[in-house]
Amino acid sequence: MAIIRVWMLGILSLTLLLSSRGASESTEDDHMGTYGTTLYQTYEAIGQFTEEFDEDELFYVDLQKKDTVWRLPEFNHFSTFDPQGGLRSIAIMKENLDSLIKRFNITGAISVPPEVTVFSESPVEVGQPNILICLVDNIFPPVVNITWLRNGQLVTTGVSETDFYPRPNHRFCKFYYLTFLPSAEDFYDCKVEHWGLEQPFLKHWEPQVLFPLPETTETVVCALGLTVGLVGIIMGTILIIKGICSSSRIQHQGPL
Ligand SMILES: *[C@@H]1O[C@H](CO)[C@@H](O)[C@H](O)[C@H]1NC(C)=O
Ligand SMILES: *[C@@H]1O[C@H](CO)[C@@H](O)[C@H](O)[C@H]1NC(C)=O
Repeated sequence: MAIIRVWMLGILSLTLLLSSRGASESTEDDHMGTYGTTLYQTYEAIGQFTEEFDEDELFYVDLQKKDTVWRLPEFNHFSTFDPQGGLRSIAIMKENLDSLIKRFNITGAISVPPEVTVFSESPVEVGQPNILICLVDNIFPPVVNITWLRNGQLVTTGVSETDFYPRPNHRFCKFYYLTFLPSAEDFYDCKVEHWGLEQPFLKHWEPQVLFPLPETTETVVCALGLTVGLVGIIMGTILIIKGICSSSRIQHQGPL
């Protein structure tokens, strides 16, 4: 099994990508190899080892802490994964990437601008804790800085993120979360820095607060509706009676 995996990594995995046009930060020397969600890139020597099931993430291996991190902590009760497996895969990928870089002279892939969407986890109600979600899609290369701003100020508490999820064409997406207490005054921005963007992109979000109607208003609306309805019924009845009277008068006069 391990041999097959190694072979697959060697043969299939390495789409050699060069993120050269990354303005000043990225250089002609940055390369990336991917296999599913297992990726390694020479820029800052970043890697990611992820296991999925039905396109949902089960876990990733924290390469610094050399630890398996389950997407939902409960998964940990049912299964285990030796993080060394992830570390080995990344090491193999790095080796393959190094040898491919030596063998081929590949032209640079172009950094693309990511797409940013911000929405709340559940309908916003003032005073009800909620979660803001910033979805950054179409990421390539997978080097990105994402931050939350509240009223223009950097927020560092209550934030969390996913790792990179694979998308077609070697693109990636990533979710950024912020737990927050909605209030009518606060506004938020999801700030994204990426080589595909000329300057940091800010996706603005502010709550569309709906105040519930106070009870007196509801009563007034109800009473008004009832009155209009009653007036309608009375007017209708009067008109019908008038109609009957006038038609019987015509019938009386008719034969004369
Ligand atoms: C690599 O390719 C570029 C053009 O695509 C060429 O100018 C350069 O000489 C090539 N380098 C090598 C080592 O083949
Ligand atoms: C992310 O932030 C760091 C530190 O400020 C900076 O050096 C780096 O260039 C940024 N990356 C991108 C893609 O903008």
